[in-house]
Amino acid sequence: MASKKFAFFLLSAVVFSTAVAAKRPGFGGNSTEFIRACCGATRYPRLCFTSMAGYSSAVQESPVQVAQLATNLTLARIGDLARRVKLLRRGASGRVAAALADCTEVLGDAADQARRTAAELKGLEAAKGPEVAWRVSNAQTWMSAALTNEDTCTDGFDGVGSCPVKAEVGRQVLRVKQFTSNALALVNNLVASR
Ligand SMILES: *[C@@H]1O[C@H](CO)[C@@H](O)[C@H](O)[C@H]1NC(C)=O
Ligand SMILES: *[C@@H]1O[C@H](CO)[C@@H](O)[C@H](O)[C@H]1NC(C)=O
Repeated sequence: MASKKFAFFLLSAVVFSTAVAAKRPGFGGNSTEFIRACCGATRYPRLCFTSMAGYSSAVQESPVQVAQLATNLTLARIGDLARRVKLLRRGASGRVAAALADCTEVLGDAADQARRTAAELKGLEAAKGPEVAWRVSNAQTWMSAALTNEDTCTDGFDGVGSCPVKAEVGRQVLRVKQFTSNALALVNNLVASR
């Protein structure tokens, strides 16, 4: 466990120093390449890159902006899923309806937590010393909590037999979790950067 953590720390440190080194001539001011390097620290690097590459001008070469963008995209995905679940509820009954209702609630919590993450990251570049560590730590806590709430949505279907609604929600939650996991990794990366 400890060695795993240490390995993760080393990996983050290496990825971050790559990003920082590249800030000078490395990427030649190419923020698309900067995003690609940052995404190397995530579990789903291809999803990370393809979802963010179109926003490279908003990111410049700031690790904070990359984390912020990933959080914004995660929040948007949670919102999309919540709207879909609401629609599915109209035609549902019994245990499926109950699972969807629970899912609506936990997705609301997850959205709230993603918003709090974004709030902690906002203007972080201008923050100093202990405030930075504190806010990054809060952001990590909120994003981890969002991931847990997304899991809870899927868990709510444990007692429901196989059906199209269960399959669809399962697939879509998985996708949202990939976005959330990536955003969390990019927030974690800010720890190594200080
Ligand atoms: C940045 O790098 C990509 C290749 O990864 C290239 O297609 C793009 O033209 C580059 N942009 C600039 C501004 O150099
Ligand atoms: C994230 O969203 C907030 C609120 O909409 C916005 O102010 C900020 O510029 C966005 N940041 C990035 C990097 O997309």
